[in-house]
Amino acid sequence: MKNLKIFDSSDDLINALAEAVRDASKEAIDAHGQFNFVLSGGGSPRKLYALLSSETYKNQIEWDKTWFFFGDERFVPDGDSQRNSLMAKQSLFEPLKIPEARIFKVDTSVSPEAAAQSYSQTIAAHFRKTPIEFDFVLLGLGDDAHTASLFPNTDVLKATEATFKSVFVKEVDMYRITMTAPLINRARKIAFLVFGESKSEAVYQVLKEKTGSAAQYPARLISTDENRVVWYLDAAAASRL
Ligand code: 6PG
Repeated sequence: MKNLKIFDSSDDLINALAEAVRDASKEAIDAHGQFNFVLSGGGSPRKLYALLSSETYKNQIEWDKTWFFFGDERFVPDGDSQRNSLMAKQSLFEPLKIPEARIFKVDTSVSPEAAAQSYSQTIAAHFRKTPIEFDFVLLGLGDDAHTASLFPNTDVLKATEATFKSVFVKEVDMYRITMTAPLINRARKIAFLVFGESKSEAVYQVLKEKTGSAAQYPARLISTDENRVVWYLDAAAASRL
């Protein structure tokens, strides 16, 4: 069973998740001197990133020992308004003055396949070992139960390698670069950030319903035996549980 934390409001959820990021950073830095933090894309994390870079949290986390990665990225040019890295830059990196050297962005100036390979290789070099083990992976959930860019009925769902892959996603008519489920599941801590009524059906299909398959509801692939997955939900998103 996955850990569920259900909050009355998205603000309460965001505050609790910011505390979890702070605590995970302390644990990681104590353990191995770094906090390797994988950011989610989409719109939900914006308020979390703004809180982490606010006066309340900016001095509670050792940002100079934190390295940033993206669980997935849209295959569009750097600086494009659809880039997950742009949202993070505006709400987190610029306010905290994070140097480029500690932000691992996907290079989309090459082919999608080459971008996934070089991202994997660059990150493996940072870890100086493979498979890569991140300290904290933040994930969102789509209305169709996708997470990262693991969309329903795509070949990347079958990947057994803990790495990054490119995938053409017809729902959004674009290539995406994404962590595979095995790579996500190797992380020390995994947190889903999900709020709003529109997500309640997907939350139900992933956490409660037993019929159907992970191919239909890809977030079901994110599970670890040591229960390292925590779902941060507001009451609206959890309304069908
Ligand atoms: C992306 C995300 C994706 C996102 C969900 C939820 O690149 O879009 O990684 O998995 O987390 O689609 O998006 P919202 O938070 O905008 O609902």
